[in-house]
Amino acid sequence: MDILSIMRSRYTTKHYDPSKPVSEEALQTMLEVLRLSPSSVNSQPWHFYVIESAEAKAKLMPAVKDFNIERMKAPVFILFTVSTKLGPQYWEALYQQEDADGRFAGWTSPERPDAIRMMAAERLEADPAELFLYNSNQAYLALGCLTVAAETLGVDSTILGGLDFDQVDEIFGFGAKNERSIVAIALGHRAKDDANAQRPKSRWPAERVITRL
Ligand SMILES: Cc1cc2nc3c(=O)[nH]c(=O)nc-3n(C[C@H](O)[C@H](O)[C@H](O)COP(=O)(O)O)c2cc1C
Repeated sequence: MDILSIMRSRYTTKHYDPSKPVSEEALQTMLEVLRLSPSSVNSQPWHFYVIESAEAKAKLMPAVKDFNIERMKAPVFILFTVSTKLGPQYWEALYQQEDADGRFAGWTSPERPDAIRMMAAERLEADPAELFLYNSNQAYLALGCLTVAAETLGVDSTILGGLDFDQVDEIFGFGAKNERSIVAIALGHRAKDDANAQRPKSRWPAERVITRL
């Protein structure tokens, strides 16, 4: 399938068939897509929680807004959290990971390759609201990659902004881990009667949203 066919055929599924699971292979691929997603200065300030057991779904349920209850028939959900505090140890560990992965082979400058990132990180961490926004932006990129990946794998999806994320944080104890949940995605296969599958896509015309200068 070419990329435009994928973008045209993916859609927000409203009704899932609970009897159709997501294959382990497809799930593993989607999780790897999340892990490989790009982020500013390779910060990767996220965590992805896979909610698939009946117990985990039941825990999530009280935080689901009424209009999304129907989506909870999906077999799998991925909950995205971002870090609220990274700290020097995080950035040092990231540098070590990149070094171990061979990113700095041939580096000759006496300055560490992450010197500028360290300075930027310090500034960012001084403003928790700014850090939260920055980290959320990175996680949303991963979310976008996932929506496309799911379609290539024949998996239907629904981005779920309609959760009470303060409640999600309380239920799963994310605050104590210096994390905040920001969004989730339902993954599965559409029910036969999912009316949204038949609706044509609607977007602004290109002239309205694209300007070539
Ligand atoms: C950040 C974000 C939050 C969303 N939250 C919900 C949601 O809580 N429930 C839902 O059914 N759809 C949700 N959507 C789906 C959008 O309504 C949908 O993507 C949009 O109407 C375009 O339709 P399409 O995805 O079918 O092309 C969300 C989408 C985004 C990007």
